[in-house]
Amino acid sequence: MPKELSPIETAKFVAAKQATQYVQSGMKVGLGTGSTAEWLVRCLGEMVRDQGLQIKGVPTSVRTAKLARDLGIDIITLDDAKWLDLTIDGTDEYDDKLHLIKGGGGAHLREKVVASASDRMIVIADATKQVATLGAFPLPVEVLPFGMRTTRTLIEETLIGADVLGREVTQRMQGDAPFVTDEGNFILDLHLNRIGDPRDLAIVLTQIPGVVENGLFIDICDVVIVGHGNGKVEVRDITNDTRDVVQFDVQDDTNLFDSVSD
Ligand code: A5P
Repeated sequence: MPKELSPIETAKFVAAKQATQYVQSGMKVGLGTGSTAEWLVRCLGEMVRDQGLQIKGVPTSVRTAKLARDLGIDIITLDDAKWLDLTIDGTDEYDDKLHLIKGGGGAHLREKVVASASDRMIVIADATKQVATLGAFPLPVEVLPFGMRTTRTLIEETLIGADVLGREVTQRMQGDAPFVTDEGNFILDLHLNRIGDPRDLAIVLTQIPGVVENGLFIDICDVVIVGHGNGKVEVRDITNDTRDVVQFDVQDDTNLFDSVSD
C-alpha cells in the first residue's frame, strides 16, 4: 500500500485514527467490516504491538477476523464476550439522526448483532457517506436461500405500500454466482432512491419470514466520526449532543501512515 494516500483513503484513515481514542485496555470491542473499518483494525493492531493495548475483539465478518488475527489482536466470539464496551464500524450512508444503511460489503447481519450488543456504536466514515435522506445507496436485505423467490415477491409487495421512490429489487451476485454471506444466506438489494420513513421500513421488512436482517440501523449508532481528505475530522456524539473538530497534520507528518500502511 502506498505511503501517499488518496484523499478518500486519508479521510477513512483519520476517522479510524480518531476512533481509537475511544478504545482503552481491558475493553471488549466490536470490529466492523469494510475498507474504513480495515483502517481501524490496522490502527488497533499497531496499538497492540507498540503500546501494549490489551483488548478483546469481536469481528463482524470472516475477513475482519482474519485481518485482526494477522495483526495480533486477540479475537473472541460474541458469545464469549457476552456484551461489548463499544463497536466501531463503517457505513454506506448516515443521516442527520445517525440512522444508517449498512451492508454494502454483505456483513450487516453480524454487524447489527454485534453493534446491538454494545454499550456504544461508533461509526467512522468519509464525508461522502452523509445524506439528507437515506436510500440512494441500495438497501441490502439478507434473506434465507430457502424460498428466496417467495421472499423476494413478499418484499416487492411490501414496497408497494412503503414511502420510497424506487422499488426495484436485485439479487447480489459475485461473478456468475449468487453472493453468499458469512451466514450462508443471499442478499437482495433494494433500489429505493429515497426512504421516507426508515424506521417503518425496517419494521415491515423484519416481519417478512424469509428476511433474516435488513441494512437499516435505527437508533443504534451513538457517535459518527467523519474524516476529510485534508486531515480534518468531525466528531458528532448524538447521545451527549456534542460536535467537535480535530485536525490531523497529513501534510507534514509523513510518518502518520507509515506503520499502518503495510
Ligand atoms: C459491510 O457490510 C458494510 O456494512 C460496511 O461497513 C460498509 O459498507 C462501509 O464500507 P466501506 O468503509 O468500505 O465504505
